[in-house]
Amino acid sequence: MTKFNFDEVTSREGTCSIQYDATELIFGKKDLAPFWIADMDIKTPEAIREALKKRIDNGIFGYTLWQTDCFYEPIKKWWSERHNVELHNDDIQYATSVLFAVAAVLKSKTEPGDAVMLTVPTYNSFVGLLEENDLKRVECELDLKDGQYSLDIDVFRKTIEDNDVKVYIHCNPHNPTGLIWTKEQQDEMMQICEENNVYFISDEIHKDFVRPKELFYSVANLINKYEKSIVITGLGKSFNLASLPFAYTVSKDYEIQESITKLMEQLHCGTVSSLALIALETAYNECGEWMDALNDYIHDNLVYVKSYIDENLSEYMSLEVPKATYLAWIDFSKSGFVGEEVQRALIDVGGLAISPGDLYLDPGHTHVRFNVGFRRELIEDAMKRIEKSFKYLEAYN
Ligand SMILES: Cc1ncc(COP(=O)(O)O)c(C=O)c1O
Repeated sequence: MTKFNFDEVTSREGTCSIQYDATELIFGKKDLAPFWIADMDIKTPEAIREALKKRIDNGIFGYTLWQTDCFYEPIKKWWSERHNVELHNDDIQYATSVLFAVAAVLKSKTEPGDAVMLTVPTYNSFVGLLEENDLKRVECELDLKDGQYSLDIDVFRKTIEDNDVKVYIHCNPHNPTGLIWTKEQQDEMMQICEENNVYFISDEIHKDFVRPKELFYSVANLINKYEKSIVITGLGKSFNLASLPFAYTVSKDYEIQESITKLMEQLHCGTVSSLALIALETAYNECGEWMDALNDYIHDNLVYVKSYIDENLSEYMSLEVPKATYLAWIDFSKSGFVGEEVQRALIDVGGLAISPGDLYLDPGHTHVRFNVGFRRELIEDAMKRIEKSFKYLEAYN
């Protein structure tokens, strides 16, 4: 029993949450149980809530400076203690959001029509970013064997060489597969990028969600060696603060850092949220224990989902507990059903809103992404709904 209660029931009614209030718009049906967009139904740590209340009581929320110790010190402390990386102030910079920073780097490093490489399956917003910025998407497909994803480094190299790639967007840990990359792999990937003059963006927003025995290795360890690289991360996932816009970058490439600031100035969105700054300070100084406890809880949720599948649904689907993230990437290829019919049954029979794999360019069209950042009771209910949907498909096919 931990001192944090992740089973607490908290209603999101009246909070205008996308997870609940936009579900009908996206999935086309009322009253679905939502497990799709990557935020959690779990409260931000009490320490952060208390710090925010105190800051709110001050009552003044004027323009706020990020270039202070309030910004640098907590980040340096967290990275030193949690990721074993010693950062200097100059290496760290504020950005409005993770995707804003990714977009800013793309703007700085590409011309319209240039090629940008993603590993597929991929986080769907990267696909959107490339389309919105008139960039050509180049796909490096991950290998899938026995439920485990891996990268063939020769395919990675060849895809870069054959397509005149200008930027590679790395996702570490990887959304949606939950893959984490080793030091050796990332060193080799960065080496290949350097040899081919490819800029290396490492999106590390999911970095704090790692299974108890797994190790996350940040690209920030390698930025001294490969200057054409940038790490982008934030608090949104780890502390469930996605609606307090805040992200930061870590890089030795001071030109790229400056170009991000310049873009924020041009678009007049460079003022940091005073509430986000307080959340940062409290999260990184005081909430390590909460993060560890939450990781245990998420791990148990994933183990529960896997056991349920193995015991009740093994003729239809399988799951390897992902090494990182709170996203279960469930493979239903055994069922023989195609993605569209599975999605229909999940919505119409199960009353569930779960993201279809095709959104993430799933090469086999045989996955769904199930967000398990919810209290156990809801995960248990969702599994029954999944079972009902597949039993229905079986009965009527
Ligand atoms: C890999 C990845 N990057 C970025 C984001 C979004 O980050 P932000 O809201 O800070 O732009 C998400 C959200 O799901 C994500 O999964």
